[in-house]
Amino acid sequence: MAGYSEEVIQEVINANDIVDVVSGYVQLKRAGRNYTGLCPFHKEKTPSFIVSPDKQIYHCFGCGEGGNVISFVMKVEGIDFMDTIELLAQKAGITLQRQMTPYNQKMKDEKDRIYMLNKEVANHFYKNLYSQSGKSALEYLYNRKLDDETIKKFGLGFSINRNEMFDFLKEKGYTETEILKSAIVEKKENRYVDKFRNRLMFPIVDIRDRVIAFGGRVMDNSKPKYINSPDTVIYSKGKNLFALNVVKKQRVDKILIVEGYMDTISLHQRGINNVVASLGTALTVEQAKLLSRYCKEIVVGYDSDEAGQAATLRGLDILSSAGCEVKVLQLDTKDVKDPDEYIIKYGSGRFNNLINNAITLVEYKLNLLLSKYDITKIDEKVKFLNEMAKVLAVIDNDIEIDVYVKKISDDTGITKEPIYAEINKLKFKYANDLKNISAISEKTNLKLKKANNNNITQKAELYIIFLLLEKNINIYNLIKQKVNLDYIENLKYKEIIEVLYSYYENELYKSMDALQLFSNDEELQIISSTICLEYNDNNIGKIIEDIAKTLLKNKLEKRKIEISKILTQENIEDKEELEKELSEILIKIKRI
Ligand code: UTP
Ligand code: MN
Repeated sequence: MAGYSEEVIQEVINANDIVDVVSGYVQLKRAGRNYTGLCPFHKEKTPSFIVSPDKQIYHCFGCGEGGNVISFVMKVEGIDFMDTIELLAQKAGITLQRQMTPYNQKMKDEKDRIYMLNKEVANHFYKNLYSQSGKSALEYLYNRKLDDETIKKFGLGFSINRNEMFDFLKEKGYTETEILKSAIVEKKENRYVDKFRNRLMFPIVDIRDRVIAFGGRVMDNSKPKYINSPDTVIYSKGKNLFALNVVKKQRVDKILIVEGYMDTISLHQRGINNVVASLGTALTVEQAKLLSRYCKEIVVGYDSDEAGQAATLRGLDILSSAGCEVKVLQLDTKDVKDPDEYIIKYGSGRFNNLINNAITLVEYKLNLLLSKYDITKIDEKVKFLNEMAKVLAVIDNDIEIDVYVKKISDDTGITKEPIYAEINKLKFKYANDLKNISAISEKTNLKLKKANNNNITQKAELYIIFLLLEKNINIYNLIKQKVNLDYIENLKYKEIIEVLYSYYENELYKSMDALQLFSNDEELQIISSTICLEYNDNNIGKIIEDIAKTLLKNKLEKRKIEISKILTQENIEDKEELEKELSEILIKIKRI
């Protein structure tokens, strides 16, 4: 595994104050030494989420989540440890140097070579375009109304109708293995054959401006129209978006996603600078996540043929699950088939209107239903109402529903009552489902709350963990002297305390970092639930005294109950002894 050294990780943690970072996601309010807010990890109406600037940890008493700045960002962004370190480092302006194992170093070197190779190839294709052999290709691009500036900006090129890439790359110093891994050249019956021949070339560039693959278009009507690089060590389809590297460099409030290379490039040339393409395939979850990192409002402008429609629907749902606000672009004329043709024919002003008038996901779905069913027929009308209700019943906002209901009623002539009836039927069902879910979560919440707050013994045990984490040898000595660990009830707590003890015993306590020491969720939640505990130098002795008393009292109370139970039975052997023990216990309890 490639990794970062502990010092670097610590540096990144130190440079990112947890209150600052969490504030980027949660509205925090000061509450004494700590901050509180609504937990981002579960739905709640009153704040049970706490952030401690002193301890640099957070904890939610509602759902139990807790940890430090790294675990927070990992959870809230849904990214892994390494990416989190990189993100936080970037935020703090720290440059990172990954520690590589030899294997990882080798993989990285290999990938770097292929990035370089691809770049050479892209340059070569570009040069071809302006050479004698590329004349007709360049002519083709001009005919498609693209200019030299755009050709350069997107690095368009031409692959000649001859196998030339193997020798070209060999000459540049690349090995056979590297050349084949790039997939620019394929080996067929011991011959090296160029993947792309006599095609217009579109380099696919990632968000770090590296050429990762190519698409190539024929210049006549032959099939296949496009061929694309297969997956390689540096490219996997469905994880990238064409032109996102260009869009990323600008500040945009929404992104338009279209199907094709030509659409994207043509729109950019005409000033629509926020366009990316999904590269022919249906939009994937990874692409949606990638997009949502740059912009929350996404306009989908897929072709309106049947395949396009299905792709649009899937894409819309994926995007809205990724948290995007999704709109659908509607071409207002039937005499062009895609955005490229539209903007060439009607210009960018009118195209911008299309973007601004893009309809919502709900409108789009309703329109689709309206075109699918013939509501003059009674059975189709029933189906329409059923499907329509599924679309509308999930909307939270009643005013919004009213608007749609009115529209449906106006469009179809169906009166509002049956429309509402159908929606409310489903809403009622959903509400019941929800009630069940929230009843269950309410119960677990209560259980957690009880575990965290109400049980005094548990709290005393938690205090021990908290105090041991203070890395103070005097506190440790006091605890060791006063508190009997055998009295600790919660075995998980006991385990943690024993680990912490061992650090003191081995004089390693100064370097102890609980959040690295304990990395599973349950342990992290226990550690972070110490968030509200406090002590000061004046009351530390009293606190530890109280802890010891609480644990002892609990132990005695338990034994008291045990003995009392036995004594209610008949024919007890050691009755006298037990009675004696009980009376002693009662005295001891009184004395505490
Ligand atoms: P289109 O057929 O709509 O092509 O395919 P286009 O981009 O509008 O190109 P022009 O205007 O005909 O020149 C949309 C996208 O689907 C992928 C390509 O990414 C293309 O841009 N595609 C299409 C393929 O990968 N292979 C194909 O054979 C066809
Ligand atoms: Mn087209």
